[in-house]
Amino acid sequence: MSRVTLTTLREMKAAGEKIACLTAYDSTFASLLDEAGVEIILVGDSLGMVIQGRETTLPVTLEEMIYHSRCVARGCRRALLMVDMPFMADADPLQALHSAGRLMKEGLAQMVKLEGGGMQLETVHRFSAHGIPVCAHLGLQPQSVHKLGGYRVQGRDARTAHRIREDALALQQAGADMLLLECVPASLGAEISRSVAVPVIGIGAGPECDAQVLVLYDMLGITPGKRPRFSHDFAADGEPGACDIASAVRRYVEAVKAGTFPAAHHCF
Ligand code: KIV
Repeated sequence: MSRVTLTTLREMKAAGEKIACLTAYDSTFASLLDEAGVEIILVGDSLGMVIQGRETTLPVTLEEMIYHSRCVARGCRRALLMVDMPFMADADPLQALHSAGRLMKEGLAQMVKLEGGGMQLETVHRFSAHGIPVCAHLGLQPQSVHKLGGYRVQGRDARTAHRIREDALALQQAGADMLLLECVPASLGAEISRSVAVPVIGIGAGPECDAQVLVLYDMLGITPGKRPRFSHDFAADGEPGACDIASAVRRYVEAVKAGTFPAAHHCF
């Protein structure tokens, strides 16, 4: 079983093979996802909401991300381990470099994901120069929820769509190895995925992105409250009464690979 690397992911994009990504926060789930064929495991700062029960991701600390990343790394043998930079641990490019160094040295991250769009050009450039693989998160950025006034679809009008498109190209140029697009119209997700060479992960960004990601607890149908429109309960698709987590994850991987997830009703 060979390790998934950035080269593997670039080759998959070039071959038109879809990439499956899910979040995990502990070693047991990480090894289950790894065995089900997930190519990227994301230690998302969504752990603030689904593990810690907070209202937003903002209170999550760098120490907490390092702790969960180290736990996930123990169960992750094949998948590429991507870890979120928590809110304000990247307030300036030098601090971001220091925080990313800790995520990689102590948390064993293989790639760091940053929210912030075009604002992060200098940070992305520095990461690239220091050999830190980086994924730039565009579109809806949950760490900016208070500024955005809620979790809203981004890029619906021509001006904001243009900005997201320009940011994507500039971030690739600055050295981003991957992009993540959250909650944008499917047409914009498709256009950006076609116009950049690096793999694009989508969440609520349509079926034409190179990869798909979901929050694990959402796709297992165990997150309390309302499930986001772009998610799907893959556990509910199994035999009635059966609770087989590994099969639900395998169904997700198969649906992503077959291009049947996301369907039109999951898109904007
Ligand atoms: O924190 C997270 O889990 C994420 C994904 C939802 C993309 O950033």
